[in-house]
Amino acid sequence: MARTEDRPTRWWLETLRRRAERTDAHIAMTEPIRFESEAERAAAVRFFNAAFRAEESGLRQAHELAAEVRELDPELAEVLRLYGDEEGWHRELLTEFLAFLGGEIKPMGKVTRTLYLLYGSAKRMETILLTNLMFETIGSTTYRLALGRVRHLPARQMLTILTRDEAFHVPLNVHFLRRVLGRSSRGARWRLRFVQRALFLSLTLLPLASRPKARAFDGIGTLELSRAYARELARVFASAPELGLPPPWLLLRLLGVDRCNVERSAFEPLEDAAERERVACEPLTG
Ligand SMILES: [Fe+2]
Ligand SMILES: [Fe+2]
Repeated sequence: MARTEDRPTRWWLETLRRRAERTDAHIAMTEPIRFESEAERAAAVRFFNAAFRAEESGLRQAHELAAEVRELDPELAEVLRLYGDEEGWHRELLTEFLAFLGGEIKPMGKVTRTLYLLYGSAKRMETILLTNLMFETIGSTTYRLALGRVRHLPARQMLTILTRDEAFHVPLNVHFLRRVLGRSSRGARWRLRFVQRALFLSLTLLPLASRPKARAFDGIGTLELSRAYARELARVFASAPELGLPPPWLLLRLLGVDRCNVERSAFEPLEDAAERERVACEPLTG
């Protein structure tokens, strides 16, 4: 089985410092995009609005956690701060990109608002980090799948940046969770398993709400996205057994996701995910 490799916190810190020097974005925002229809443009605005909310929430949670752990573990706090800064950079890019699309930042829909309210109300550090890891995984999955479909160059450039960076944020969040779980009680770990199951189910149902809004832009079907979320989430947990959070295999079976495929599929090497120019942004398959 492929495993998400772990490195000492120092490695993550040095990597994030190196990445902070290379926040270059090449997005061709001079010529307006020629969408096929107004419905496609509106769906693109909704797609990137959802991305904006995810970045905003990631930024806030990372900086709050950094403040919380600073005394206990200053190195980890600095990693969290720099990680939050990357999300902040994404948020800036998305603000600009939404204006380029002729859209604006809109209030969240009912489902998204409920999800972020629940996320924002989580108090325990391990719950926040687990939620963050699972949100990062589905974000990264959506970006990568959309990149495989969308043909407009500026949107592809925006999606490439997001896909590339989120590919690094997923193993980074596994590292955060490992560190915090190392200090957690047995009771906290059991509670976390319950949270993981509830989130797993909610997130695989999320495409029921998101597809009618964004499909005209990204072309991703409801069942296709549910399966992709389930498969990618399972891959993360199956490759980090030390977290003690095995994937809910029964739910995966019901969704038609093959356990052998999940367990056999490997992540790209961590060094490649860490170096922005080495990240392969191929679309997800089977
Ligand atoms: Fe991000
Ligand atoms: Fe991220």
